[in-house]
Amino acid sequence: MENFEKLLYQASNRCSGIYDKDSFKDLLIVFGRLYPFTTENIAGYIDFFDLEGKSLLTTGSSADQALNAVLKGCKDITILDVNPYTKFYYYLKTAGILNFNLDEFKRFFRYKEFPTTFDDNRDVFSLDLFDMLKSDLRLLDYESYLFWDELFNNHDLERVRNEIFSNDEGDNREVDASNLYMCDENSYLKLKNVIKMIKPEFINDDFFHYMFNRKFDNIWFSNIAMYYPTSKMRELVDRYDDYLNNNGKLLISYLYKTKIDTEYDISWSEIYDLEKTFYLFKKYNPELINFTGIVGLRKKDDDIKDAVLVYKKSNASPIIYEK
Ligand SMILES: C[S@@+](CC[C@H](N)C(=O)[O-])C[C@H]1O[C@@H](n2cnc3c(N)ncnc32)[C@H](O)[C@@H]1O
Repeated sequence: MENFEKLLYQASNRCSGIYDKDSFKDLLIVFGRLYPFTTENIAGYIDFFDLEGKSLLTTGSSADQALNAVLKGCKDITILDVNPYTKFYYYLKTAGILNFNLDEFKRFFRYKEFPTTFDDNRDVFSLDLFDMLKSDLRLLDYESYLFWDELFNNHDLERVRNEIFSNDEGDNREVDASNLYMCDENSYLKLKNVIKMIKPEFINDDFFHYMFNRKFDNIWFSNIAMYYPTSKMRELVDRYDDYLNNNGKLLISYLYKTKIDTEYDISWSEIYDLEKTFYLFKKYNPELINFTGIVGLRKKDDDIKDAVLVYKKSNASPIIYEK
């Protein structure tokens, strides 16, 4: 079976409660499900990066990293993700942005704690709204159209939401405030006007294995560092340093509820051991940038900070003169 047909077959089976060996294995790994929306306060850190007219390599995830970057003027975007459904979801969101107003967009895509806390959205992926976006989706990316058309028309829609997507979705305040394009109608309209021109490159692979033959101005590793030993992240940064342009910035890790003096708790991921992390990354002299955290948004408390650990490549490579 061709790769796309296999993906669709497995996804469709999953929505019917049938798991073959491969898709069952997929569900056991952490990243077998799509993130419906970002779990990071992207609006909190995005202005630290220079995206206007520059390039970005990012994880795909909810597509929100890419969509917010487009809003900030980034046109050259590469999305690399181990999750094979990433491209389909990017185009579904793009077709939604092109055809919906912001309220409709939320009604179609939001699920957890929507429209109000303690509710789940019974209208998620409603076929009435899907009908509004599907001709654009078909033109944007035919595989994405086939994928969602098959799932939405043949399965219970909440079941699709729960099988293909993770339950990790914030409340209204968290989701809206973390995404610049969802903060207000003007930003949403601005994205609507530019998104059609953007054609990201999609790579379904593992950051730890993939080899590039180009460079980027910005690289975002999201919070993948939470799932790997910090020494492995250091090796990853060593490798991606070669793919980073001079004056470019690399987001080594997103860190929840973290300030420079936050004391490490042994039950947390190793990357949160800041003393060790700064020691391992000393060659890169990274900066810890704070902003209102996800929990801070939820609790309306700006003192609860998240952080991004960022390496700025400022040294030009030494010029080697041949004799
Ligand atoms: C770390 S997860 C967390 C979600 C994130 N905090 C957000 O706001 O969207 C982000 C994405 O990284 C992807 N991912 C994790 N490890 C990866 C790897 N080694 N290579 C490529 N993608 C990876 C997952 O599939 C997921 O889509």
